[in-house]
Amino acid sequence: MEQPTPKESWNTRFGVILAVTGSAVGLGNFLRFPGQAAQNGGGLFMIPYLIAFVIVGIPLAWSEWALGRYGGRMGYNSAPGIFRKVLCSKNGSYVGMLGTVMPVLIYTYYVLVEALCLYYAWHFLTGTIPALGDSVEAVGGFFVQSLGLGSNGALFSAEGAPFLGFVFFCFLLNFFLIYRGINQGIEKFCLYAMPLLVVCAFIVLARVLTLPAVDGRSITDGLGFMWNPAAEGDSILATLANPEVWVAATGQIFFSLSVGFGLILTYASYLKKDDDVALSSLTSVAGNGFCEVVLGGLIALPAAFIFLGPVFLSDPENIGTFSLGFVTLPNVFNQMPAGQFFGFLFFFLLFLSAVTSSLSMLQPAIALLEEGLGITRKPSVAILGFVTLVGTLFIAYFSAGATALDTVDFWMANFFIFIFATVQTLIFGWVIGAKKGYEELCAGAEIKIPRWIMPMIQIVSPAYLLIIFGFWSVGRLPERIQGMFNPPEGEPPVILMSVGFILIVISFFAFVIARANQRWPDPQQEPRS
Ligand code: ALA
Repeated sequence: MEQPTPKESWNTRFGVILAVTGSAVGLGNFLRFPGQAAQNGGGLFMIPYLIAFVIVGIPLAWSEWALGRYGGRMGYNSAPGIFRKVLCSKNGSYVGMLGTVMPVLIYTYYVLVEALCLYYAWHFLTGTIPALGDSVEAVGGFFVQSLGLGSNGALFSAEGAPFLGFVFFCFLLNFFLIYRGINQGIEKFCLYAMPLLVVCAFIVLARVLTLPAVDGRSITDGLGFMWNPAAEGDSILATLANPEVWVAATGQIFFSLSVGFGLILTYASYLKKDDDVALSSLTSVAGNGFCEVVLGGLIALPAAFIFLGPVFLSDPENIGTFSLGFVTLPNVFNQMPAGQFFGFLFFFLLFLSAVTSSLSMLQPAIALLEEGLGITRKPSVAILGFVTLVGTLFIAYFSAGATALDTVDFWMANFFIFIFATVQTLIFGWVIGAKKGYEELCAGAEIKIPRWIMPMIQIVSPAYLLIIFGFWSVGRLPERIQGMFNPPEGEPPVILMSVGFILIVISFFAFVIARANQRWPDPQQEPRS
């Protein structure tokens, strides 16, 4: 049987770096990071954050880039194809299945949030964000209504229709770009969107840093609120001894760098065989870090501090990803001079950053459908469009309290991401092995990679991941599992149904992989490198 060959590649090195950085820079940078930092020690959060960055962020990014380029050279672009080849076994493709399933499921709700950013940008642009300069509750009401959080099915009523229109627009945009392909769709879009979003962020940042004091609270106080070390019980050690802080920092690194999902694996598989991965991957993690710590860390909370004060922000309810983005910040812009313009810019940049991320969530499944079923782009886009649309409509329908969204997010972006990240590091470190792994990383490298990276990938990173995962499981899993079987009285079991939905998507991709295994050549007969 004919071996699949990569049909596409990136146009330029700059393009692939922008696309990977675009995948990484997203809502995680501008909304999730400031809330996580403020709730987990302020400036002290940077200690576990930087340690997680060095122990898991960089090693995972390097191993994903190298594994992806290796897979592409062997003729595979999807995680199942790549893992089958690396593990030299048909069943290896099932090990890679999560690298397709996770991005698809994350896309099903991420696109709703992406649409919400565009919806808010539109309302700022047209001056129709309610209660301009008024109470937090009024904007809170707008948020609840926009996402239909009040009751299931709310988005499918006349009131919910405008927002659903934005969701369909985002769907069409994503699939149009995916249909155009790696270099004509994803790369071209990122080439314009990434610089544009950074320019928007700088303009908003300049506004925030020059804000006059309100009620005696200056921007310096705001920066202090975000960045001064906030020690638990006045002891730095007590804060750093809290496992939750480490779990939060590691989770943030994963989510923000887009590592451990299988996204970079697929993007890197479209590299040419001698393209550098060492410096390119460092450039994209540095770009993401800059957008996160500098742009994300200096805009949202310092501005909110000036207008809303420390008491309001000390309530974690007000600085979670959603509440900070869609309730707290609109209030801040509403009170800021020329806030309508800056509010528009902020939500528009969030929208752009979300699109560059959501595109990267679709490509892994497109690659699997194309190379696994031997079909062209058109039918693979149609199949994935159908699967994700059903998922998004399911999550949009069961919108009360965002329960369905939260459930899919929990299992994908918290639970499976740890598992897949650990599996990836182990495969790179032990199956590819220290010698060959190091050679892979160094092939075409434009910087010298330190030799200690391999023991790090083989031992330190997986050990750290397993310890953090252990703490996380003890702290979070029992409550989640109990919640699955105890829906509120008189309510449908939405959590259980969402888990059922996840299992259906997993079964669908298991079926695709089974078909692919019949098509693909026997991995033991293929050359190994
Ligand atoms: N890395 C993407 C984000 O931060 C998923 O939103």
